[in-house]
Amino acid sequence: MSHTILPHGGTLVNRLAENACQDGVDERLRSVTVDRWTLSDLDCLAIGAFSPLTGFLGERDYDAVVETMRLADGTVWPLPVTLAVDEKEYADVREGERLLLRGEDGKAYAVLTVESRYRPDKRREARLVFGTEDPSHPGVSKLFAKPALYLGGPIELMQRPIPRQFAAYYCTPAETRAAFKERGWKTVVGFQTRNPIHRAHEYIQKTALEIVDGLFLNPLMGETKADDVPAAVRMESYLVLLRHYYPPERVFLAAFPAAMRYAGPREAVFHALVRKNYGCTHFIVGRDHAGVGNFYGTYDAQRIFSAFSPGELGIQPLFFEHSFYCTACQGMATAKTCPHGAEWHVALSGTKVRQMLKSGQTPPPEITRPEVAQVLIAGLAEAGCAKS
Ligand code: ADX
Repeated sequence: MSHTILPHGGTLVNRLAENACQDGVDERLRSVTVDRWTLSDLDCLAIGAFSPLTGFLGERDYDAVVETMRLADGTVWPLPVTLAVDEKEYADVREGERLLLRGEDGKAYAVLTVESRYRPDKRREARLVFGTEDPSHPGVSKLFAKPALYLGGPIELMQRPIPRQFAAYYCTPAETRAAFKERGWKTVVGFQTRNPIHRAHEYIQKTALEIVDGLFLNPLMGETKADDVPAAVRMESYLVLLRHYYPPERVFLAAFPAAMRYAGPREAVFHALVRKNYGCTHFIVGRDHAGVGNFYGTYDAQRIFSAFSPGELGIQPLFFEHSFYCTACQGMATAKTCPHGAEWHVALSGTKVRQMLKSGQTPPPEITRPEVAQVLIAGLAEAGCAKS
């Protein structure tokens, strides 16, 4: 008997215009140039990762999402997915008008059919979505820097904006669902990450894998803040870790094309729903998921799940406490499983680990596998991060 979890909202969205090509694009349409962030949203919308969304949010859905973490019809959806355009330049855009969405490379990627145009209250959006109006929050500063007019409506994507390197990992949710089915996985745990995999990540992934059939390792490949490790370097580090420490028949690695919002709790729910669309039945939420600085409490991103009934999320979150290596236990543990004091624990902040890697130093093996450290040191040096 085959088992496939339903996508969010019941239907897997597909807005890929399979038959369209550059030649088929109506070049007479007025165009909008979108940034890399919006381009990655377009990709996620088109492949159904953001099901049930079929395009950028119109005003009614936007207001409902910001205020209630739901679409206007009540479906849970915690983050606004919006298209911001210059107010003066697009002041005369009409509802029903079709706009060509171009990347910064000049290529025509998608067509938007405008159904809604509105001026958002960005301070409200910042306060409710990010929990702060502080512009030192990377998501908030990004929001405040966007133009002032939002356009909503369905999109159709002519070509996927995926990099040549690692292109094979940019699977669609339909493809990952088929792959899980082919492997006979009835239960699959999804793992979101924007960082290189350290021992703590490995520990919570493998602990989760003990109770499900497969692990869906789904690193975020879209835009992140400048001091995060570049996506290509991270991808290399995942590959080397998988090669040495994971049974291949139990793990599926695929790129998550989205950009990082750093919206903490709300983004954790969003990440879970998106992984449900990729076919996961379970989703890992550890410490300070999708957090940044001290904007969120360590377990806020776990607590938010109690605002929803399990049925309306349709995916089971698996919560993990802060994990570390304990020299007395001689293994990875959390406060739940280890009775020893902090003096026994090998603890280094992410910032400290990054500093070590950038200066060519290998962090202790209790923090980072040596094979992974080598890839990161080489990758960061090549990316020019060594000097920063
Ligand atoms: S995130 O922004 O994508 O959440 P990161 O890649 O660091 O950042 O984390 C991926 C997942 O691992 C998240 O669920 C996060 O909560 C969890 N995590 C990271 N470090 C730890 C840790 N030391 N202990 C427990 N969970 C952790």
